[in-house]
Amino acid sequence: MPFACPSPSAANPVTKVSDLMALRTTELGAGPHALTTTAFGYGAMSLAGAYGPIDEPAALTLLQEVTGRGITFIDTANIYGLGLSETILGRFLEGRRDDIILATKCGIEPKGEAGKRSINGRPEHIREQIELSLRRLGTDYVDLYYLHRPDPDVPIEESVGALGELISAGKVRSIGLSEVTAAEIRRAHQTYPITAIQSEWSIFARDVEEYVLPTCAELGIGFVAFSPVARGLLTDGFDPEGLGENDARHKFPWFAPEYLEPNHQVANKARLLAADAGIPAAGLALAWLFTKAEGAGLSLSVIPGTRYVEHLDELLAGLDGQLSVELVAALDALAEEVRGDRSFSPQWVSGGREGLLPRASGK
Ligand SMILES: NC(=O)c1ccc[n+]([C@@H]2O[C@H](COP(=O)([O-])OP(=O)(O)OC[C@H]3O[C@@H](n4cnc5c(N)ncnc54)[C@H](OP(=O)(O)O)[C@@H]3O)[C@@H](O)[C@H]2O)c1
Repeated sequence: MPFACPSPSAANPVTKVSDLMALRTTELGAGPHALTTTAFGYGAMSLAGAYGPIDEPAALTLLQEVTGRGITFIDTANIYGLGLSETILGRFLEGRRDDIILATKCGIEPKGEAGKRSINGRPEHIREQIELSLRRLGTDYVDLYYLHRPDPDVPIEESVGALGELISAGKVRSIGLSEVTAAEIRRAHQTYPITAIQSEWSIFARDVEEYVLPTCAELGIGFVAFSPVARGLLTDGFDPEGLGENDARHKFPWFAPEYLEPNHQVANKARLLAADAGIPAAGLALAWLFTKAEGAGLSLSVIPGTRYVEHLDELLAGLDGQLSVELVAALDALAEEVRGDRSFSPQWVSGGREGLLPRASGK
């Protein structure tokens, strides 16, 4: 049953995750800081309206459906909705905190005019932000605490040292880094054992395959793939006309007016391949990641985001998929056709600082 979709379980406020279905798990990191998570996690940026509105009751209902399907890994950040995502999660976690592997992040802060952001990896900022996150989340620890971006003005050893101190203080169980280069990973890991690297990885965004993923595999660090369905492009229901005025995707080159339609056409090729394979495109996109990770000896968890339970089930359809060599090769080829970079600024992401962006082709 290569594409079996787990059947939904009835969820209610008193149902313990441990009573529900067991999803495939993965071990991120090694030794005393290793974390066992479900290989499928839930990205809670969507709960703060990044890609469209959702109200709090709907968000809480969705989280029930998420955990009802056995998903125990939830990813958020202090910056998502300026604390809103963490606050909603805090309400949801009441009475079930120990059932969830909870990841959050610090290091990106709002700057001046609405929507602008800056990076802050100073130790005192990290120490301040964990307290604010813990308060919003209604807990006294997080399982995985990431630095959201390395700060170009702060040596990574200093930021990681501060994260490590939070482990000694019992506020954090393990640490991670997001959008770091292979060289930054090595320096950080020498300072304190890193459990997970989080970066963008999908059929459309493959730059991490060059340096970051081999480094994670070599050092035994887990990888958490964000935006695994290319911010919605790699799904059957994506509507290029349907992006609202406040949709965060407007700032990303893939969604710029001149690139959106060509990229939608590239995604159509993935949709056709998915239809041939008999699974939703979103499921195929995740199955591609799991197949690639297995080939690379990498511990992987994916954290797609959605506001809808129907979409969640399409995503879950890819969890146990192992794709044929031919199908993987056909999907591999699509990245070269994608127009525009994955980020609005090459410096904002690891591939840009590693000289892999702007991409030579597909522009
Ligand atoms: N570390 C970082 O810098 C960073 C950056 C970005 C994201 N993240 C994390 O990664 C998580 C996931 O990333 P993401 O949300 O950017 O990208 P994603 O999971 O690739 O895409 C989310 C988008 O896909 C749509 N979608 C998902 N499944 C669908 C389906 N079956 N049919 C139609 N549309 C579907 C969602 O819309 P609907 O709501 O309509 O389903 C949403 O617009 C975030 O929640 C966040 O936790 C981290």
